[in-house]
Amino acid sequence: MHKIAVIPGDGTGPEVVREGLKVLEAVSKLEGFDCETVEYDLGGERYLATGEALPDSALEELRAFDAIYLGAVGHPDVAPGILEQGLLLKLRFELEQYINLRPIKLYPGVRCPLKDKGPEEIDFVVVRENNEGLYTGSGGFSHKGTADEVAIQEMVNTRAGVERCVRYAYDYCRRRDDKKMLTLCAKTNVLTYAHDLWWRTFQEVGEEYPDVKRDYAHVDATCMWMIKNPEWFDTIVTCNMFGDIITDLGAMIQGGMGIAAGGNINPDGVSMFEPIGGSAPKYTGKNVINPLAAICAVGMMLDQLGESRAAARLERAVMWVTANKMKSMAAGKMGYSTQEVGDLVVESAERSEV
Ligand code: IPM
Ligand code: MN
Repeated sequence: MHKIAVIPGDGTGPEVVREGLKVLEAVSKLEGFDCETVEYDLGGERYLATGEALPDSALEELRAFDAIYLGAVGHPDVAPGILEQGLLLKLRFELEQYINLRPIKLYPGVRCPLKDKGPEEIDFVVVRENNEGLYTGSGGFSHKGTADEVAIQEMVNTRAGVERCVRYAYDYCRRRDDKKMLTLCAKTNVLTYAHDLWWRTFQEVGEEYPDVKRDYAHVDATCMWMIKNPEWFDTIVTCNMFGDIITDLGAMIQGGMGIAAGGNINPDGVSMFEPIGGSAPKYTGKNVINPLAAICAVGMMLDQLGESRAAARLERAVMWVTANKMKSMAAGKMGYSTQEVGDLVVESAERSEV
């Protein structure tokens, strides 16, 4: 029995989570295991009603689950930063989900904006550090609001934090496929302290993985290669901020936010899975948003829970739907409603043989 906390969240979050849970129920029945879900109404509405983004009691309860499934956070009436820092980042930090795993995989039938690139060329994974870097909220203002204002945002990197991320990336790369090439994406020519630490850690830990090829690309060059030669990549490891940026670029080459999923992973604790896009308020309640990113997040969650057959079945079902049914990955242009796409994935999962 897997115990899963569900945070549908804001905007279109609840709609896509509903489809994800529908698929979860179907594949768990097919593969013969049980999931128990408990819903938490965290998000913008709750914050507006109570002034709390994540009460301590909820955080403590969440620690007791096997996984967390999150829809989206972000509310038009809540100032930027409050829910991001008070809910999403707080969960990532407090639960020590120090990896943000983001597969960039183009599924068959999905339109890719890159000419001459298809599913053969676009299949890699970004391992983003998820607890440090520019995201710690360390820094401050002086002379705020004057012409002399100084604003400092510190990039915090610890040896322990970098090392556990890099180690995870080597392990992941080693078992992923035969390519076995790990690219460090950083900016060692400018961030001569922070990314020197990354460089040294990457090389030192790499000595323990003689079977994994070590590769390096500056972040700007990484953006260039992701467009020009995405087939070059296998696994990329990078800091929090660069990982945030390059995975949005990655989402675009895999077909858009409608299909891009990610996992916030604590290999020894509670991990949290989410579509990487936002709450898309303008599509709320219209039954037009693409649920595949949320459904793929369920696939990643199943993998983490050790249900790899179910995860593989789910992915095959999604691939069948993208290849044979959907017209587009964009909201309102799929040729089907949100609910119908969920139904199509369920039907396909029921047909597929392992
Ligand atoms: C993401 C998001 C978040 C991030 C925001 C909402 C804080 O963009 O999950 O990529 O920057 O990590
Ligand atoms: Mn982002």
